[in-house]
Amino acid sequence: MSNLSITPGTNNVGAYINSIELKNLEQKQVNEIKDILSQFGVIFIKKQSLDPEAYQNFAKSIGTPVIYPRLKGLDKKFPFINVIERKPEDKNLSFGSSWLHQDTSYLANDRPRYTMLMGIEIPNGQGNTIFSSGFNAYKKLPDEVKHKIKNATGIFSSAGPIAVTRLEREKEMGIKSSDSMEAEHPIVKMVNGKKTLYVSPGHLMEIKNVDKKDAVYLKKYLIDHVNKKEFIFSYEWSKGDICLWDNLSILHMASEIKNCRRVMHRITMK
Ligand SMILES: [Fe+2]
Repeated sequence: MSNLSITPGTNNVGAYINSIELKNLEQKQVNEIKDILSQFGVIFIKKQSLDPEAYQNFAKSIGTPVIYPRLKGLDKKFPFINVIERKPEDKNLSFGSSWLHQDTSYLANDRPRYTMLMGIEIPNGQGNTIFSSGFNAYKKLPDEVKHKIKNATGIFSSAGPIAVTRLEREKEMGIKSSDSMEAEHPIVKMVNGKKTLYVSPGHLMEIKNVDKKDAVYLKKYLIDHVNKKEFIFSYEWSKGDICLWDNLSILHMASEIKNCRRVMHRITMK
């Protein structure tokens, strides 16, 4: 039982953890944060402004930070922190935007499970991060669809619909992209005793292990389903905020930013 004070997000997507200071946590508090994360899928912790050291330490208390496959670290001391920067003159869509997705679903093994962002420089009234709950979306599926997708798997590719944004981003950063990566995963997962939908629309190419005549329709159906307003929470950032989510149970995307600079520090963890 958690002693921490929480407030559910809009549409019951995730939870704010109130009145907590992430520097120097006791193990008991770390365990409580992990419980809330696994129960809600995403947690929001306002106005922490951790320095890179404290931020990286917090990540290490939650999981094992990993080097992100396609981006460089902040510097040698903080290899796990990726700087996600949006410049005012950037004309393309922001990083990972326009498609809900679950990070690195195109990796076959050792997918980093958690993604964490901290707001470093936040433009006024723009650049929300949009979350959709796979728990809530699964729960609201018609029984008929639940039955049809019981054993379904998805083919997820780094060259999926989201790739256009990523390729532009990598070009800007002077990174030469490797070949595309592809993996197959079940699309219904069990997390903390609850079923969740793993469909990562930004990477999903094809649904398999369903009746052949249903595969195309189910793909569209599930993508439309997780995008429904009733499962969405658009999170408005303040500087120093931390959002931490489980990529098995939560989908996310960036929203549009125009003529503004936005900087985030990201850490992914196993
Ligand atoms: Fe992402």
